[in-house]
Amino acid sequence: MKFFIDTANLEQIKEAQALGILDGVTTNPSLMAKEGITGQDNIINHYKEICDLVDGDVSAEVISTDFDGMVKEGEALAALNPQIVVKLPMIKDGVKACKYFSSKGIKTNVTLVFSVGQALLAAKAGATYVSPFLGRLDDISTDGMNLISEIRLVFDNYNFETQILAASVRNTMHVVNCAKLGSDVMTGPLSAIEGLLKHPLTDSGLAKFLADYQKGN
Ligand code: E4P
Repeated sequence: MKFFIDTANLEQIKEAQALGILDGVTTNPSLMAKEGITGQDNIINHYKEICDLVDGDVSAEVISTDFDGMVKEGEALAALNPQIVVKLPMIKDGVKACKYFSSKGIKTNVTLVFSVGQALLAAKAGATYVSPFLGRLDDISTDGMNLISEIRLVFDNYNFETQILAASVRNTMHVVNCAKLGSDVMTGPLSAIEGLLKHPLTDSGLAKFLADYQKGN
């Protein structure tokens, strides 16, 4: 399973990259605003900086909601760096734009996916990634993980090449369960990734090894 970090924070991206396990980055307009990145020029420069920090795919989301606007914005974003993946909302014009970009060999990430039907449409339109938001489903007492499992089933039934990018991952168990269900990618915060490191038996075992080493020296 590929690990993407879901942030526009350059320090956190550097930290995940330094761990040696990072495969890419996802951003969205809210994550950009959280870092105080506003205005077209600053946003563009920020995407360039993120691309310079990581080797993998970097999702950059369009703001337009009409086909022509999405195409114009997406083409400008894709021209920034080959790592850029054009992130498009799961709406009618987003599906049309996804088909447009996929037929031109430009990578896409269809975002705000909350149902199997939406994921199926994105795959039919040739999306590189489809982003089911599992945490936001959990937030409304719906089983987000079940959506990942159902999309996996449908994509495997037809050998769709579209990768399932489990998004809105909030914690470490989300990461583990996505891996169990065969999600191709997960995107989450640094805390969810670093949580994978933790086990009390690792800590106590290491403390004992070091104490025993000291006794013998
Ligand atoms: C990723 O592509 C999404 O924008 C992100 O995972 C949403 O996460 P949230 O529901 O925690 O805001």
